[in-house]
Amino acid sequence: MRTSQPLAAILPALVALHGCGDAANAPATQARSGPDPWTSALRVATAVDRNADPSIVEVDIDARIAEWEYAPGRRVRAMTYNGQVPGPTIEARVGDTVIVHFTNRLAEPTTIHWHGLRVPANMDGGPHSQPPIAAGATFEYRFTVSDPGTFWYHPHMNERVQMEFGLYGAIVVRGPREPQADAEGVFVLDDLLLGDDGQIAPTGPLLEQHSGREGPLSVVNGRAGAILPMRAGQRQRWRIVNAGSARYYRLALPGHRFTVIGTDGGPVTTPRTSDELLLVPGDRLDVLVDGVGAPGSATTLRNLPYERGHGAGLAEAADILRVQYAGDTALPRLAAPAPGARIEPLAVAGITPREVTFNERIDRDTKRVLFMINGQSYPDVPDVVASVGAAEVWDLRNESEMEHPFHLHGFFFQVVSRNGVPEAEPTWEDTIQLRGQERVRIAFRPDDRPGHWMYHCHILEHVDNGMMGAIDLRR
Ligand code: C2O
Ligand code: CU
Ligand code: CU
Repeated sequence: MRTSQPLAAILPALVALHGCGDAANAPATQARSGPDPWTSALRVATAVDRNADPSIVEVDIDARIAEWEYAPGRRVRAMTYNGQVPGPTIEARVGDTVIVHFTNRLAEPTTIHWHGLRVPANMDGGPHSQPPIAAGATFEYRFTVSDPGTFWYHPHMNERVQMEFGLYGAIVVRGPREPQADAEGVFVLDDLLLGDDGQIAPTGPLLEQHSGREGPLSVVNGRAGAILPMRAGQRQRWRIVNAGSARYYRLALPGHRFTVIGTDGGPVTTPRTSDELLLVPGDRLDVLVDGVGAPGSATTLRNLPYERGHGAGLAEAADILRVQYAGDTALPRLAAPAPGARIEPLAVAGITPREVTFNERIDRDTKRVLFMINGQSYPDVPDVVASVGAAEVWDLRNESEMEHPFHLHGFFFQVVSRNGVPEAEPTWEDTIQLRGQERVRIAFRPDDRPGHWMYHCHILEHVDNGMMGAIDLRR
């Protein structure tokens, strides 16, 4: 799909492609008049599609060292995709083929992992599925996108350095039916820790290895101190990605409520409204925000305090960005979004759960912090051997005090229960919160994509120090 074409030129092709032309299939963003925040400093360039075939998105991405201007006039030396942080947003429609011509212009090996996309195992970028792409080498990623939702891409090598230095980007996959909003865009959240020289501080101190790296400077779409334009009555759709190494985001926008319409794996059955959103590292939420503020008023999106164990986390609320209302009269409010397609709970009765425990210890000799799954650190964690089509039930048990956000590659799962309390309504997830001492039962049914699939804590220092294992999925 060529994004540079005017919408009017692509629309008939899209309608033909999806075989329907009714009003419900109108583009998601049908702006009534009001500002589009993603033309402001929050704009993230979309990857340029160089394939004229409307069902193929073909893009060039490289990883390279470049300057990252995180605030006007403030630059740091970064690792970037195509010279920008976040990397270009890859936009596609369900069913599209995505081809990424990737060149590694870094001085070290890397891979790209398509977090949340159900790609074939050999396209997943994980350490078991793909040999490293050496400095100067190229690789062609090719897969189809099968689910609507908000996903992201990042390296799966030396993550705690490469991702911290800026290697991440969003992926937006649209379905034939998307809820109405006046403006829509991605919010890729991250935090930065700068050194005295104003550059990104070197990674690796022991405390950071244990607690995970956090920095005091919040950035949204690579920008600190950004202003989000809003109009009274306007409905904005925020596709939020937490790309931080260890930072939790507990977001609140005073005076406003969020309507959650999607999670990691796409639309929820019942949109729910809430005053706060929690995103653990790796997580995504798709929310509608209605402009209930008065014309000319302003408010601030905040990250509220959150303790994630051993004193790690945010002690005092931090500002994420400022929301500034235009002086125009209010637009008429839009009706509440319609429910999504019903997500049926997976049938798990009679399946013996696998125990997957999370723990940590300090190795007295090496002084290294070891993070463990079932008592072992990667690569010593034995593979979980699973079969295509056979339901899996896992009991994730966190035996430590610290939280370990759990991520599974390649497949969406449902949370069955937390500490024995059943979840109210199933959603599709690939990254979830796992609190200290918590027991979370999850269920999934791997579809026909045999190979090795990683699962791990998404705190990058914890992956690096061993909290990762693999599923050996067989036919
Ligand atoms: Cu965000 Cu192993 O992934
Ligand atoms: Cu992933
Ligand atoms: Cu962890």
